[in-house]
Amino acid sequence: MKKIRCLITAGPTREYFDPVRFVSNPSTGKMGWAIANAAKDIGWDTILVLGPSALPDIDGAETVRVVSAQDMFEACKRHFDSCDILIMSAAVSDVRPKFRLPNKAKKDAIDLRPELERTPDILLELSKIKKNQVLIGFAAETQNVMDYAKDKLERKNLDAIAANNVGAAGAGFASDMNKIDLILRGGDVVDFGAGTKTELAKQLVDFLSERFFAE
Ligand code: CTP
Repeated sequence: MKKIRCLITAGPTREYFDPVRFVSNPSTGKMGWAIANAAKDIGWDTILVLGPSALPDIDGAETVRVVSAQDMFEACKRHFDSCDILIMSAAVSDVRPKFRLPNKAKKDAIDLRPELERTPDILLELSKIKKNQVLIGFAAETQNVMDYAKDKLERKNLDAIAANNVGAAGAGFASDMNKIDLILRGGDVVDFGAGTKTELAKQLVDFLSERFFAE
């Protein structure tokens, strides 16, 4: 039986102004890390592209550590061609400083209105060059969760998107618990309910395996 090759992203990205200051978000990488473990456990060849995170490497999977959105984009491009499924659970920073100083700025010299620019939308860019890869996104939202998630599924040409209310109690960034509704292209919704990230990751990977790769 052919081994499924999966590429999973997790964690935040950091976009530095100078060597000690950056733009980021509270993601810890737990959800994507749990998905990578679940993928490895069902026998998929697993590459985890992980932004800055305290989580350890996974035995039996390849962990590629990155810092910025640009690093993550390049790591994903290197492995995208040869993967069967991309699960993009990273909380990629949407903006970055346009200029990065080589040395720490002194407090009085800090630019209070630094110029920002958008980071590459990794999932969108990969969706434009995809061949047969299955693309799974995550939508981290605090309001209109299902509508915004459906919009992303269409816009980024995804096969499915996990809608994630990061504002709800006991879900989202840094928590060990989460709640996921998986919206499939075509409109069906699979409600995985609430659970630990480990439980939800296993349910998600089992579902994706059955749905997209059943022999
Ligand atoms: N994503 C990405 N590259 C970015 C931003 C997001 O690949 N620069 C991916 C995320 O990993 C996720 C999906 O796109 O799988 C949706 O991310 P989200 O942050 O929810 O949405 P955005 O596309 O950034 O849109 P908005 O900030 O307007 O909600």
